[in-house]
Amino acid sequence: MSWNDLEGKDLISVKDWTKEELDILLRVAGDLKSRYYSGEELDILENDTFMMLFFNSSTRTRQSFEAGMSQLGGHSQFLAPETMRISLDREPGGGESIKDTTKVMGRYSEGIGVRLLEDKVDYYGQGTEILYEMGKYSTVPIINMASDIYHPCQSMTDIMTMQEKVGALRGKKIAVTWAYSPWVRSWGSIQSNILTSALFGMDVNLAHPEGYELDPDVLDLTEENAKKSGGSFTVTNEMDEAIKEADIVYPRNWMSPDRYEIGREKEIEMAGKHKDWKYTKKRQEELTDPGYLLHCMPVDRGNEVEDEIMDDPELSFVYDQAENRLHLQKALMALTMGGSF
Ligand code: CP
Repeated sequence: MSWNDLEGKDLISVKDWTKEELDILLRVAGDLKSRYYSGEELDILENDTFMMLFFNSSTRTRQSFEAGMSQLGGHSQFLAPETMRISLDREPGGGESIKDTTKVMGRYSEGIGVRLLEDKVDYYGQGTEILYEMGKYSTVPIINMASDIYHPCQSMTDIMTMQEKVGALRGKKIAVTWAYSPWVRSWGSIQSNILTSALFGMDVNLAHPEGYELDPDVLDLTEENAKKSGGSFTVTNEMDEAIKEADIVYPRNWMSPDRYEIGREKEIEMAGKHKDWKYTKKRQEELTDPGYLLHCMPVDRGNEVEDEIMDDPELSFVYDQAENRLHLQKALMALTMGGSF
């Protein structure tokens, strides 16, 4: 296949892209990173516009997409839904439909990014359903900037960062573990990470306390990906078992499957019973090998992971990982929005 074949393609989940397509994305991201550091000025998306519709807040995603478009010679537009006519209410009189909004946005732009998750959806899966609905109506690529099920830009950045840091990923062990925090985070980053890490041949150990099971469809697909790639996938209720001999540890809080029925306060109370689920220096030294820290950020310092690991430049990947969002997303926009390389 050629790079041009990716023009017009949505990225809502990595499951919709082949391994070959994802490898192209990584190669272009690496190339654009090198060109950025060599000081080259780029006009790959000159005069193009990327629309960014954020139903939820963001530090990294907004800034990296916006800076990325500037670095490619184009422009990005930040859109808050409360400043628009759009409404997720489907009843007549509820507001402008998703269909009309999407069709109009495509008349002004070459690509549309959307973030929709957590308290902005009524039930698990609704955010992702809406992204696929937009994909159906859109004449330009729809990019998932984090939904309730997936965060593909994050998980492909995770892969890019791990490849840079530890080389070929086949046979490397990653422990993706629930960690205590009162922040009640959603599942997209974690689910996309396990799906993608398994696709790239890693041994993926998922750990969480009982009651924090993830989406069964995502777990099945992770298992399938591991089988296809020669990796492996295990699930345990013991953090120490998961991180044993791990090359990489990803300690992150996530909500229970009952989040939308029991509400946020009850979730915080439940999470408080598992404050020992923390990536500590002691655990890193006694169990891992060597247990590099991977985390999508924001990090709940002192709860999810101790500062001693977070601030150790030998162990912590997190700032390089955050930077790589920029280069990975530049590659994604350049490829899907018909950039002139
Ligand atoms: N990791 C990530 O998506 O960060 P933001 O929520 O700050 O965009």
